[in-house]
Amino acid sequence: MVNKTIIVSNRLPVKIVESNGEYLLSPSEGGLATGLGSVYKKGDNIWIGWPGIDVPEERQQEVTDKLAELNLIPVFLTPDEINLYYEGFSNEVLWPVFHYMVTYANYEQTYWDFYQTVNQKFKDTVNVHLNEGDTVWVHDYQLLLLPGLIREVQSHVTIGFFQHIPFPSYEIFRLIPWRDELVEGMFGADLLGFHTFDDVRHFLSAASRLTSAKISDNVVTFKERQIVVESFPMGIDELKFRSLVTEPAVVEQIASLKETMQERKIVLTIDRLDYSKGILQRLQAYELLLQMHPEYIDHLSLYMIVVPSRDTVPQYKELRDQIDQLVGNINATYRTLNWLPVHYFYRSFPIEFLSALYATADICLVTPMRDGMNLVSKEYVASRTDNTGVLILSEMAGASKELNDALIVNPNNIGEVMRTIVQAFNMSPEEQAARMSVMRGIVKKFDIHLWVKNFMDKLEEVKQLQESLL
Ligand code: UDP
Ligand code: G6P
Repeated sequence: MVNKTIIVSNRLPVKIVESNGEYLLSPSEGGLATGLGSVYKKGDNIWIGWPGIDVPEERQQEVTDKLAELNLIPVFLTPDEINLYYEGFSNEVLWPVFHYMVTYANYEQTYWDFYQTVNQKFKDTVNVHLNEGDTVWVHDYQLLLLPGLIREVQSHVTIGFFQHIPFPSYEIFRLIPWRDELVEGMFGADLLGFHTFDDVRHFLSAASRLTSAKISDNVVTFKERQIVVESFPMGIDELKFRSLVTEPAVVEQIASLKETMQERKIVLTIDRLDYSKGILQRLQAYELLLQMHPEYIDHLSLYMIVVPSRDTVPQYKELRDQIDQLVGNINATYRTLNWLPVHYFYRSFPIEFLSALYATADICLVTPMRDGMNLVSKEYVASRTDNTGVLILSEMAGASKELNDALIVNPNNIGEVMRTIVQAFNMSPEEQAARMSVMRGIVKKFDIHLWVKNFMDKLEEVKQLQESLL
């Protein structure tokens, strides 16, 4: 039998959406799904995860069969599990704490109880599909206990783990009541990957303070096993984004956007609805620009795509209302008969339209308060095949460690963001080209394929090292 890789993440790369009682498949949003979505379909590889909605028992077989055609294996979650494990522990404890928004955290015991049970549930599904020689690659904060649970049953199996969001400093991480169990769950892996060196440092610091593990450089020794911790900055499918801009459907949309905008410049922002993305602060910076520099009125517009996300979690709902209000205020105050300051879309779009927007936007404004990597910034760069355009990028995004030629800003500094938009608006084509070509080179070289290869090669090396020590 051929050895395979089993990818496991909370969310599958496609989700089930219900339309008139029929179940349809639709691509999932978010960096994990879009990033890995184009590389998992190799050989006998499979991907295990939740299909995104509550599927009643009598229809689970139908969904299982539909997904099997794509090598996807569903883990069905009950409404309580969705509520307490996904919305609760994952998105009301781990997400806010790991993004340094500690006042948003809600440390409910039942959240933790369900987090443990659902991680067990994922382990049961993995066990059904795991054969001798297979590799398991677990992804992200929803499944921190899974590596340890798999290891308990199959002590020699090869397990990689990659976290797509930041790992916070110890002073933040220590706030979580179940911190020791989380770190020890992660220790079940052979290789632990993060986007940046800072995340690695923070994890090692938490591991050394909270557990009995011995740490030397980036190697953790725990219960006589060695675990390597390393940074692997995630890339994108650069070729896909580069090629998309010449596809006829995209070319047509680019022409139509240009016609709508005439001589005006487009400032583009694309995010999931999330308080970690700095959407309100960014709107404030834009409002400040219109207030302080009325000469830009009618010369630029903000295209703001906000993709609905986790809208059953209270803080997300609240944020949506705040965005609606602020956009409404800005448009009501500054709009003219022929010009709209903010074109706000609260929905997701097909990749062809995103590509047309990336290719048309003169400025891409990416200003998260915290972000593990931020793939949108890389997708923008990959789409600028004529080396024009300016990327404004938060220093709090993992991508800022690689894309040094972006205009780097502190997203909390509204005045600085406002001045940087002005700088971007007035940047000469020569400077744009000089910066963009360097960034395009980086995004092209360190693409998603190299990222997968680097992670997998390292995992194999770690396994061989462990075996040589036996
Ligand atoms: N995205 C999408 N549909 C949309 C808008 C965005 O699939 O309508 C994708 C976008 O192309 C990107 C991902 O969502 O690949 C967002 O990833 P990022 O790393 O920027 O942030 P995350 O959502 O993972 O926090
Ligand atoms: C981020 C996380 C992913 C998650 C995605 C979308 O990219 O790192 O794990 O899948 O956001 O969020 P959702 O809660 O809809 O899965």
